[in-house]
Amino acid sequence: MTVIIVFILQLCISLTFQDSLDINSVPVHIDEDFYWRDYRGSIPKDALVGGSKLNRPTYIGQVVHSNSLIPGPIVQEDKGMYFYFEGDAYFVTENVKIFCTKHPEKFNWTKIHNGEVRNGLDVNRFVIGGSNNMYIGRIRYHDGDLVGRFSLDSSSYSTLISFEGSVDDMLVEGNTFEILYYIDDGRKRQFVSFSLKKTFNSFLIVANSLITLWFSKFLQ
Ligand SMILES: *[C@@H]1O[C@H](CO)[C@@H](O)[C@H](O)[C@H]1NC(C)=O
Repeated sequence: MTVIIVFILQLCISLTFQDSLDINSVPVHIDEDFYWRDYRGSIPKDALVGGSKLNRPTYIGQVVHSNSLIPGPIVQEDKGMYFYFEGDAYFVTENVKIFCTKHPEKFNWTKIHNGEVRNGLDVNRFVIGGSNNMYIGRIRYHDGDLVGRFSLDSSSYSTLISFEGSVDDMLVEGNTFEILYYIDDGRKRQFVSFSLKKTFNSFLIVANSLITLWFSKFLQ
C-alpha cells in the first residue's frame, strides 16, 4: 500500500515538472521581440527611439504608399511621418505604424562604412522595415540622425548598400550610416534552459525509481 502511495506521489512530482518543461520550451521567435503599433499622434511607451532632430528623439515609422511599405522617421512635434518615394517628398499623419519593442537591449545601431557589410554581421539580423527587403537604418545629417531605409545589392548580397531617407522635403542619401541590428538570440538561450530542464527532469525520474526501489525493499 505504502509503495503505491509513494509511487503515485512521485508520479505527480514528475508530471508537474513535465508540465513546466512544456511551458518553458516554447521557442522565442525574433518577430515577437518587436511589433508595429498604430501611431495616432502620440508615442507609445514601448516605441524604440530611431534618431533625432534638433536634439529631440524621433521614432521609426512605416506607411503604405503605392503598394509599397516604406519606413521613415516619425517626428512627434509634427505628429506625422516623413518619407521619400520616387522623387517626391511626403509627410503623412494617417495610417502610420510605429516600431515598438519590449526589449530595446536586443537592438543596436551598427555602422556601415562605404556601403560595405563587414564580416561577422549577419544579414538575417538586419531589421526589415518595408517591402522589397527595405531595411531600417539611420544617417547623420545637420539636424541629427535621420531614420530611413536601405537595401542590399541583390547581385552580391554582401556589399554596396546605400541609404535613403527624408525629412522636411529634404532627401539625404549616403553610403556611411548605421543599420538597426537585432542582437539577442532568444532561441539559443531558450534552448539551453530547455536542455537543463530536460536533464533535471531525467535526473528526477531516475531518483524516483531508485527511491521506489528502496522503499519496496524496506517494506518487504
Ligand atoms: C551590435 O551587435 C553586433 C552583434 O553582437 C556586433 O557585431 C556589433 O558590433 C554591435 N554594434 C555596436 C555598435 O555595438
